[in-house]
Amino acid sequence: MPFFLQNISERIIQLKILAFETSCDETAAAIVEDGRKIISSVVSTQIDEHKKYGGVVPEIASRRHTEAICFVYEKAMLESGLDLSDIDAVAVTAAPGLIGALLVGVNFAKGLSYSAGKPLIPVHHIRGHIAANYLAFEDLAPPFLCLVASGGHSHIVRVHSYTEMSIIGRTRDDAAGEAFDKAARAMGFEYPGGIHIDRAARKGRKDTYRLPQPHIEGAPYDVSFSGLKTFVVNLLHNAEQKGEQVNTDDLCACFENSVCTALCSRLMLAAKNFGYTKIVAGGGVCANTGLREALASLCAENAYSLFIPPVSLCSDNAAMIASQAYYEFLSGVTASLSLNAAATMSIEKSF
Ligand code: KG4
Ligand code: ZN
Repeated sequence: MPFFLQNISERIIQLKILAFETSCDETAAAIVEDGRKIISSVVSTQIDEHKKYGGVVPEIASRRHTEAICFVYEKAMLESGLDLSDIDAVAVTAAPGLIGALLVGVNFAKGLSYSAGKPLIPVHHIRGHIAANYLAFEDLAPPFLCLVASGGHSHIVRVHSYTEMSIIGRTRDDAAGEAFDKAARAMGFEYPGGIHIDRAARKGRKDTYRLPQPHIEGAPYDVSFSGLKTFVVNLLHNAEQKGEQVNTDDLCACFENSVCTALCSRLMLAAKNFGYTKIVAGGGVCANTGLREALASLCAENAYSLFIPPVSLCSDNAAMIASQAYYEFLSGVTASLSLNAAATMSIEKSF
């Protein structure tokens, strides 16, 4: 822990942060102590609603957040056994995400911060996915190398400190989760398809189909997934035209294996070239069984230590936002009531 942070944390003990997360299709509230200990965490998912449309409908997401946010707030307070006066600060995901969805959380948090007279802390959603690891591993501290794979992002990030990070690899097109969901949709699975591919892949053979492994010239840590998705779509289309059967379990196993190989090979190369031995992963796609197994075996092979949150902390939740908020607050980040939400924002930037 850097010297300046040690000093501050000695002064601020038992800082309880109430956080909100509404960036996509989960309305969540949580209370976390000192960035590490979950006191309460409530997630209300809208997945059943969006399933009907094969993906998240932004307008519906905003409306459902508006309906659910009071409920998740009250439930998180009730489960914590705390009073609002016990809370030291209010945090919220302010970027990136669906703008209308983000605004629900941002405005709710602003109102609460103003009425309760508590500081307001804006948090970057992807920084939150990294911070999920601080909740799971009490001794984990930067610097480390991190793979973030979610529905909207696929990054390899050098995490220099709790609030300073630089991206060294990214996707050139679809994010890993987006690729999973699009391929799953083509195979007839419901949204979100990542979990269905995961389940089917466990029954399939990963050496049946040869999917492309794109290499981006001059960008050794970047990935591209749109070719994999197109491969799946074309394969299914051709089989249908010829009246041939496709073994979906095998196709899922091959697709999952290709995504995992693309992510893991870049991550291992980056670890070697930048000299990291501490490897961290986060984001919804890190719930994937094949990815977790591949990371575990590669890290063991190279004698790296690996940190991946439990599956429950990989997907969107507010506890990870509260955790990151703690470190943002210690580094001096707070917002005024003019805080706005942003649909896009680099993880490298601070609020
Ligand atoms: O991090 P997340 O919950 O939300 C975003 O910030 O985007 O990630 C959601 C993504 C979805 O694309 C979902 O299909 C994918 O994570 N996902 C999975 C699995 N569980 C969730 N992908 C592959 N295998 C899984 N088991
Ligand atoms: Zn997320």
